[in-house]
Amino acid sequence: MEIIICKDYEEISKKAGKEVIDLLKSKPAATLGLATGSSPIGIYNELIRAYREGEITFESVKSFNLDEYVGLDRNHPQSYYSFMHEHLFDKVNIKEENIHIPYVFDLNKGFAACKKYSKLLENTEIDLQILGIGSNGHIGFNEPGTPFTQRTFIVNLTDKTRQDNKRFFSSLEEVPTKAITMGLVEIVQAKRIILIASGAPKAMAIAKLLNGPIGTKFPASILRSHPNVTIFVDKAAASLIEGVIYE
Ligand code: F6R
Repeated sequence: MEIIICKDYEEISKKAGKEVIDLLKSKPAATLGLATGSSPIGIYNELIRAYREGEITFESVKSFNLDEYVGLDRNHPQSYYSFMHEHLFDKVNIKEENIHIPYVFDLNKGFAACKKYSKLLENTEIDLQILGIGSNGHIGFNEPGTPFTQRTFIVNLTDKTRQDNKRFFSSLEEVPTKAITMGLVEIVQAKRIILIASGAPKAMAIAKLLNGPIGTKFPASILRSHPNVTIFVDKAAASLIEGVIYE
């Protein structure tokens, strides 16, 4: 696992963004694994800039998102479908039919939706997966305790995750309690993975990711067994890497 410590979020976004831009230059029909949340927004801005300046095109790019809240209409402002359109898709020339975001509005149809997304992923090779990390070590919405063999499933979001995501909603009650997420085994099937973490609230998670035990208590630790992972962090997120005592 390679770690790149950057001055700040802007530098993370430029360096990690360059990776994606270079991939799309060398492989215009690349398949990207995409994340939502605060972490990748800077990368998406870099991609939009490169697209507007004619460096890259999304004409043949395919995308697969990690996750989506259960029970939110696609057009709800906090759905990940809306997030992706607002922060990337509406600003580049990606084709709607090449965009894949899991969707479960009616929980009764959840199992079928998981099977469908899993099948799609089985027949796909993701060239580059972008990840953020939850302060509890989740990747996608694979919360602590998720088996490393897990495929796409419906997860009960932990209180910690709902608290962390409350900032996007007007109250905690509005934050959905469930999500559909790519499973850990599907995430690590990507050829290359880049993980972004910025700010002091991510410092403990990054320290555990690098030096803590590998196991289901800390889902992101699965990345330690992947041969091609780079972590981009700023100084604040890197601040606990040395000298942490683990239970
Ligand atoms: C989002 C996702 C989550 C986030 C994580 C960090 O699609 O899968 O794992 O990456 O919760 O979120 P931010 O970047 O908002 O701190």
